[in-house]
Amino acid sequence: MSPKLSRRQMLTAASAVTVGAAVLPSLAASEQPQAYPVGKDPGKHEPLANFKFDLEATTGWVGEAGSAKEATVEEFPASQHIAGVSMRLKPGGIRELHWHAIAAEWAVVLNGTVRTTVISPNGESATDIFQPGDIWYFPKGHGHALQNIGNDEAHFVLGFDDGHFSEFGTFSITDWMARTPPHIVARNLNLDPATVANLPRKELYILPGKIPQNPLEENLADDLETSQSPHKFRLSNMKPLSFPGGWERIVTAKEFPINTTLTSVMQYLEPGAFRELHWHPNADEWQYYISGHSRVTVFGAHGRAQTEEFGPGQVCFIQQGFGHYVEQVGSEPVKFFALFNSPTFEEISISKWLAGNPASIISDNFLIAKQEVARLPRKALGIVK
Ligand SMILES: [Fe+2]
Ligand SMILES: [Fe+2]
Repeated sequence: MSPKLSRRQMLTAASAVTVGAAVLPSLAASEQPQAYPVGKDPGKHEPLANFKFDLEATTGWVGEAGSAKEATVEEFPASQHIAGVSMRLKPGGIRELHWHAIAAEWAVVLNGTVRTTVISPNGESATDIFQPGDIWYFPKGHGHALQNIGNDEAHFVLGFDDGHFSEFGTFSITDWMARTPPHIVARNLNLDPATVANLPRKELYILPGKIPQNPLEENLADDLETSQSPHKFRLSNMKPLSFPGGWERIVTAKEFPINTTLTSVMQYLEPGAFRELHWHPNADEWQYYISGHSRVTVFGAHGRAQTEEFGPGQVCFIQQGFGHYVEQVGSEPVKFFALFNSPTFEEISISKWLAGNPASIISDNFLIAKQEVARLPRKALGIVK
């Protein structure tokens, strides 16, 4: 619990002071003492949390059949509500059967071909094949497995709607079987005790597998209903929103209904472009840079702002409601995706905000002449060239 008083507590404290002041009739209302918490200087605020994390520069988990680099609250404390993993599977490599008890899983495939299987609580199962530019979404708790079924390395970046998903919420099948009395496993799975004795003794996480041949093998049960709620969305096939300096593709729960907790935005900025000053009233923003370089300044109120530069494999986190922009730097276009922890997309841009005010307010607020105010944009600019 934070030692700081909540706004409600401050108001309660303020009314207590007012009651106290009532017995001091000589004090005018304007002279009554201000009710700040004891020991707290109202002008001082914690510095901004570090909002840059070099995900691909970490070692992470490395095994025979693949690797995984994590950005959870442990590695990147600023991001409490969104975590990410950069995962690579070698051809045939399997991310074993597992589920996440406290988070939904999202991913975008950057390279290779991945087959997923997922089971939902209504007994419907789905098997899908993902290629670069496709995204998946598995609701919280749905059991799933991944396999690289191509001949090249598969690389995908996973996102989770809880920063603690890893240490408190990933449940793997081998770990579970190894912790269950063997006679129970044997009875439940109808296996011979000798077979159970040879099951893995601990969690395998990522393990080698065989590249499947065409046609792909059927599931064990061939009578399971296919899921009515597709967990695959072909993001790169979506029509982009175009701006003078680039484009973006925004996928909310409206376009991708199973995706009830996240919004994904793929963005592309041409050399010289920048995404204008804005903020998101309803969500944190978690960015992963695919190519090119950018500069971001985050404004956290109370005189606090910080600038960082980002390149491939680096992660930027912007807290809900904090002002920011993204400026392309260098000679290469910049491509990145952003995940938001809300199924709807909300943004307020500075240009549109200002345009929704009379000129005299802007003139007085900025201390500038009205002919200067007349130069201001009249609508949202999006990505400026
Ligand atoms: Fe998972
Ligand atoms: Fe943003």
